[in-house]
Amino acid sequence: MFVLTDATNPDSIKKAVKNVEEHLEGAGLNLLLNNAGIMSHVNLDNVDSEDMINVFKTNVVGPMQVSQAFYPLLKESADARSQEPLSCKKAAVVNISSVLGSIERTSVTYDPAKQVVSYRISKAALNMLTKCQAEGYRTDGILCTAVHPGWVKTDMGTEGALLTTEQSANGILKVLGSLTEKENGILMAWDGKVIPW
Ligand SMILES: NC(=O)c1ccc[n+]([C@@H]2O[C@H](COP(=O)([O-])OP(=O)(O)OC[C@H]3O[C@@H](n4cnc5c(N)ncnc54)[C@H](OP(=O)(O)O)[C@@H]3O)[C@@H](O)[C@H]2O)c1
Repeated sequence: MFVLTDATNPDSIKKAVKNVEEHLEGAGLNLLLNNAGIMSHVNLDNVDSEDMINVFKTNVVGPMQVSQAFYPLLKESADARSQEPLSCKKAAVVNISSVLGSIERTSVTYDPAKQVVSYRISKAALNMLTKCQAEGYRTDGILCTAVHPGWVKTDMGTEGALLTTEQSANGILKVLGSLTEKENGILMAWDGKVIPW
């Protein structure tokens, strides 16, 4: 596994692609997981353009640029398994999103005390990016799905969260193993449930 030091920095992305390419020795990349994300605790009254741009850059522009940069390696993997249906074994982009980006679920998830508006907006945009990638890369044989990891005990999720990182990661691994054409361009939760856009 390779970790990108800054998923919004073109030089850092280029370096990561080069490292991965050298490691793969021509084999192609079967799975790109865009996990980096930030959240700021702003509400409708105090959110400003700086925060919006900052959060959007990390949560949307980053995954878009990283996906573009890794596309040739993903395509290589897809081409090597051209007869196989879409799957994470063949080639896939998985964007770690959030139920907070689901417009349909907002009336249920909205908390006036924790609005995190820039985060919500950015994850809704990431969901749209995922849908566009799914449509655009389908014929290349690359599956694209957004995954909500659940409410997890991390710096972002806090100790009060419901899931341990292990529970969330195990669930996500199970979901990744089950992805097919049917799940191309949708938002799925860590437990395999589909979340409406
Ligand atoms: N935790 C939850 O309950 C929850 C719920 C729904 C969705 N998510 C999503 O799950 C993903 C992981 O979140 P988390 O809970 O692990 O959050 P976290 O504890 O705040 O960790 C975020 C991670 O993203 C990295 N990161 C941030 N900006 C980056 C950049 N520009 N380039 C490279 N790495 C960057 C951070 O690296 P540094 O430490 O080096 O800054 C850190 O490792 C995020 O996309 C988040 O939106 C989390």
